[in-house]
Amino acid sequence: MDHTEVMKPETLDDLIKVLHQVFSSDCINVEEVQNIMESYESKPQEWMKYAKFDQFRYTRNLVDEGNGKFNLMILCWGEGHGSSIHDHTDSHCFMKLLQGQLKETLFEWPDKKIHGGMKRKSERVLQENQCAYINDSIGLHRVENVSHTECATSLHLYSPPFDHCNAFDQRTGHKNTVKMTFWSKYGERTPFETSISQENN
Ligand code: SIN
Repeated sequence: MDHTEVMKPETLDDLIKVLHQVFSSDCINVEEVQNIMESYESKPQEWMKYAKFDQFRYTRNLVDEGNGKFNLMILCWGEGHGSSIHDHTDSHCFMKLLQGQLKETLFEWPDKKIHGGMKRKSERVLQENQCAYINDSIGLHRVENVSHTECATSLHLYSPPFDHCNAFDQRTGHKNTVKMTFWSKYGERTPFETSISQENN
């Protein structure tokens, strides 16, 4: 069933309900999920309670665990904050802009011999309400808020959920496994012990 024909999610709660329906099936249509996420018009009052910023790095804030099928989270990017070049642990990654702009740079997987750093495939600036998609067969990416004056907020859906990925050194292509943690869950700050190892930035 094409769920976009059934309804356009008017609120973040609606969007979450539709995503639950879509992901109850084992077969995921990437374009359909992208369209659904894009058709939700971001309203800050609906997601503000999850949007928690840190002075030094972007934060990951869990919104919904998608019945174990996906993790939905809000990432908050202060001025100049960015992620490392990373993979997506064989998962689907959907990324929708809720506020501001984010630059996404795609890279090729590194070869054994790297000359002059990892190869860039493309770059683009994502605008409010736009929804990007990536998986490991497309390549690796880095996401950055390049603005010096505006913060940015994005909604990410990962399916299946994962809590580790590989981060790559742009110069050498060497990779390291990093653990990804949540700054907050359901609007509440996660205890310090479990949130100190967010290292993908
Ligand atoms: C990103 O895609 O750059 C964000 C990675 C994350 O989930 O921390």
